[in-house]
Amino acid sequence: MIKNYFQVNNSSKLSKKILIQPLFVDQKIKTSKYIKGLGDNRSWSLSNILKTIEKDLKKGIFNFLLFIVPSSKQKSPEDFSYHFEVIQNIKKQFGTDIVLLVDTCLCSLTIDGHCGVTHQKKIDLFKTHYSLGLAANTYLEAGADIIAPSDMMKNTTKYLRKIFNQNNFSNIPIMSYSSKFKSNFYGPFRGAAKSTPKGFDRSSYQLPIQDRKKAIKSSINNAAQGANYLMVKPAMTSIDLIKEIKDQTLLPTGSYQVSGEYASLLMLDKNKFGNYIELLNESLLVLKRAKSDFIITYGARDIANYI
Ligand code: PBG
Repeated sequence: MIKNYFQVNNSSKLSKKILIQPLFVDQKIKTSKYIKGLGDNRSWSLSNILKTIEKDLKKGIFNFLLFIVPSSKQKSPEDFSYHFEVIQNIKKQFGTDIVLLVDTCLCSLTIDGHCGVTHQKKIDLFKTHYSLGLAANTYLEAGADIIAPSDMMKNTTKYLRKIFNQNNFSNIPIMSYSSKFKSNFYGPFRGAAKSTPKGFDRSSYQLPIQDRKKAIKSSINNAAQGANYLMVKPAMTSIDLIKEIKDQTLLPTGSYQVSGEYASLLMLDKNKFGNYIELLNESLLVLKRAKSDFIITYGARDIANYI
């Protein structure tokens, strides 16, 4: 039985249980470091992330999407020992009080910052799946609740579902970044994740923003391959897709308000063109109006006090 963490829900109300707060843990950081553009969001050391989670829990935020940034890069990533340590420590302290989603991608690990293993400026799909499978398996052994592959390579969900079934993890949900566009709104994130791509961009694996059919098909394919939750990203450039994806797949479908979208709210506030919390509230209410079943936002802990 796969546990239901998020449900299809057509209410327009914003509630804490549907919010997911991203968190960054960086092996190189001793205490914490502010992420440029993301307000109070920081990259944390392992010991300090535990304190952050404790504070978020007091605000009623308990869903977290974890990004782990190890100190060394690898050509074909195989060493996920730091990831194991981080996840295990978090779950040891908080157990079932939190839902721990772990972003599963190679871009913080590879030398060229691509989401897969590359060879002569092309993705090597076989090696990419192998590395992603090792990663996901390690995260699950450490206690992750949900695996969230964001690599956008062909058939990753299918591959992971197969590996999970083979390794007694058949009850683990997959939250697929199922309709993820190649976008100009990921800038602040790449600073924190140290994942700016080198040599070529991500257009060979991320979706073109103009192609609605392809974007919807990508979510439908992920559903068919065994994803349990679907997602559109960036949120504001994808609001027209959410309802259709839900209707076609019957799966809970959420949206990710990405780093550049969130940073733009802060910049409006900083320039006195608006009020941060009201801008944030409006932007999230629209995502609910568009029928998002869950919302990933860097402002989850801030809006928690407001709703
Ligand atoms: C990488 C990944 C990205 C984000 C989440 N996972 C960036 C990218 O595709 O370059 C973006 C998140 C954000 O901007 O907040 N797999």
